[in-house]
Amino acid sequence: MIVYAVFGDPIEHSLSPVMHNAAFKAMGLDAIYHAFRVTTSRLGDALRGAESMGFGGLNLTIPLKEAAMSLVEPDETARAIGAVNTISFLGGMKGHNTDGAGASMALRHYGVSVNGSRVLLIGAGGAARAIAYQLSQEGAEIVITNRTSEKGSALAEDFGLSFGDFSEIEKLVKSSDIVINATSVGMHEKDPRLFDGRIISKEQVVFDIIYNRETELLRDAKKAGAKAIDGVMMLVYQGAAAFRIWTGLEEPIDVMEGAVRSALNRNE
Ligand code: ATR
Repeated sequence: MIVYAVFGDPIEHSLSPVMHNAAFKAMGLDAIYHAFRVTTSRLGDALRGAESMGFGGLNLTIPLKEAAMSLVEPDETARAIGAVNTISFLGGMKGHNTDGAGASMALRHYGVSVNGSRVLLIGAGGAARAIAYQLSQEGAEIVITNRTSEKGSALAEDFGLSFGDFSEIEKLVKSSDIVINATSVGMHEKDPRLFDGRIISKEQVVFDIIYNRETELLRDAKKAGAKAIDGVMMLVYQGAAAFRIWTGLEEPIDVMEGAVRSALNRNE
């Protein structure tokens, strides 16, 4: 039996165990995936422990993704993003980041290609960073905007992207083909809107990385007749990319999606 795990703090609500255990079962693998609460100060010990015990691989989540950078050998993508969400133990402790690939594959899943598209990316946290890196590799014309300008412009500068002031978000939305919400806004029912959704047009694609509920942004996008994509498939594909790194096998996407949707009670 090979053990895989996700480390984070808090970790109780992680959907990774449900998703990966369903994948292992569907593939007939003798493996199990468990969530462990690990604090930043114990991350080094926990990583060494997992390696010593022969774990097959790990995922990391908040607040460990950045802290892991100095504890593992990050690959080129993880280095560019500055964060690690996946670790493999095949010849050392290798750090990967599959968040950006997850976002890109989710867009592709819904028939969206970003090459040559004008993308407005809202946010400057870890998720926004991963998406900015990946989509700029794929030829998107990205404009970053963020509530805190300094963080947004620093991210834009890191990847040579444009920055637009958050006070002009509606103008920025109107002049883009794809709008991506990479902030935490919309996770809770009472969250305010980032902008007046009535300005969305039906030619646009709106991708919201929030997956726990249908956000007001996505409802507005649907109302406008735009293509509305939620964060479920990004979660699934970042997990699928990790699965592939660990096992070398093609991941059972439908099974993983089904497991996540039923855990979320979102079978739409
Ligand atoms: P993650 O690593 O998951 O992306 P994070 O680093 O906490 O999370 O980043 C959260 C993002 O949501 C940030 O871009 C944050 O904007 P600030 O840089 O100004 O903090 C954004 N965010 C959170 N609450 C927001 C709100 N009410 N309005 C606009 N942006 C918000």
